Amino acid sequence: MTIRIQNRTALVQQVPVAIPGDNEILVQVKAIAINPTDWKRAYAGTICGADYAGEVVKIGPRQDPNFSLRVGDRVAGIVHGGVHKDQGAFAEYVKADAAITWRIPDSISYEEAVTVSVGVLTCIQAMFHPKRLGLVQYPSQVPNQPWILVYGGSTAVGHFAIQLARLSGFSVVTTASPRNHGLMRRLGAKAVFNYRDPNIVKKIKDVTGDSIHIVLDAYSEEESQLICIKAFGPGGGRLMLVQHEAPYIRRLRKDVTVQSTMLYSVFGRPYMMMGKTYEADPADRVQLVEYLRTTLPDHLRRGLLRPMKVHLWEGGLENINDGFQHMIQGRVSAEKLVFRLP
Ligand SMILES: NC(=O)c1ccc[n+]([C@@H]2O[C@H](COP(=O)([O-])OP(=O)(O)OC[C@H]3O[C@@H](n4cnc5c(N)ncnc54)[C@H](OP(=O)(O)O)[C@@H]3O)[C@@H](O)[C@H]2O)c1
Repeated sequence: MTIRIQNRTALVQQVPVAIPGDNEILVQVKAIAINPTDWKRAYAGTICGADYAGEVVKIGPRQDPNFSLRVGDRVAGIVHGGVHKDQGAFAEYVKADAAITWRIPDSISYEEAVTVSVGVLTCIQAMFHPKRLGLVQYPSQVPNQPWILVYGGSTAVGHFAIQLARLSGFSVVTTASPRNHGLMRRLGAKAVFNYRDPNIVKKIKDVTGDSIHIVLDAYSEEESQLICIKAFGPGGGRLMLVQHEAPYIRRLRKDVTVQSTMLYSVFGRPYMMMGKTYEADPADRVQLVEYLRTTLPDHLRRGLLRPMKVHLWEGGLENINDGFQHMIQGRVSAEKLVFRLP
C-alpha cells in the first residue's frame, strides 16, 4: 500500500513493490514523518513522502562497499517524494538510495529517528557547505562564541540548527512562541524572543550588542525575511533562507548576501520547482552523504543531537490527509507528526 497524490489529496493505493537497483535498498517502513514539502510540492500520480525509518529487507545487485548495509539493519533516510511513480516514503516499502540512508543507533526508536533526516540535512547543507554559510563544523569551533540568529527555532529545521550552531561554538539567539522558550534554551539557545513581539528586532540587537552577521531563517516566509534582514548589525553579513527569497529583500541591505538552499540537490539529479529546472551539484551530495556515513549516527548515540518530540498520529497511511490538514492549519509546534506502520 502506498500514498499517491491526486488533485492535492493523498490517496491510499495498491502498487507493486519496487525492485532496488544498483546502490539501492528496499526498506520495510516502520515510521514516516510529515514535512511541509510533502503537500507543497507533490505531483499527481507520484508516491508522496520524504522521511522514512524502517528495516532493510532487500539489497540491490551491486553496492558501493562504503555504504554496505545488510538485510535486517535499522535505517532512516530521505527520498525525493512526490516526483516518482515508484519511490516515496509514504508506503509500506520504500526503495532508497543506500548512500542517503543512515543506521539508527540502538538507543533511538524508529519514531524518533524519522524526526531527524530532512531537518538535520537541510541544516548541514545551509550551515556548513562552503558555497552556503560555510560555518565551522563540530568538533572544530569558532573562537569567541559570536552570535548567530536562528530565526524560527521551533521549526524542524530550527530545532537542529540551534543544536548544530551551539556545537560549533556560536551563541544562539532564536525566535519561537513563548510555550517553546524553555525547549529553545534546553537545545542550546542563549536568548529567545517571541516572533510576534513588535520590538523583536530591537531585542535581538540589544541582547547581541548589534553584532549579528550570520542568520539562518528556518521559517523563510516574507515576514520572517523582513525581521532577519533588519536584525543585521553594522557591516551586514550572510542570510540563508530555506525557501525562495522575497523579491525586495536584497534591496533593504546591500551589505547582506542573501542565498536560498534546497535539500533536493542531494539526490544527484536535476529537479523541477515552480516551473524552473535546477541542476544537481555533485558536491552537495558528497557533503551530505559523508555526514550521514561518518557523523549523524554517532552524534545521536552520544546525545550531542536530540531528535524532535514525536507527535504520534494514529491510523497509519489512511490518516495522512488529517496530518496534512493539521500542518496546513499551522497547528504543528516544535514537534514532528509521525505515523507508525504495522
Ligand atoms: N530548503 C529546504 O530544503 C527545506 C527543507 C526543509 C524545510 N524547508 C522549509 O522550511 C520551512 C520550515 O519547515 P519545517 O518542517 O522546519 O517547519 P515546521 O516544523 O512544520 O514548522 C512549525 C513551526 O513553525 C513555527 N512558526 C510558525 N509561524 C512562524 C513565524 N512567523 N515565525 C517563526 N516561526 C514560526 C511554529 O512555531 P511556534 O509553535 O513556536 O509558534 C512551529 O513550531 C518550511 O517552509 C519548509 O518548506 C525547506
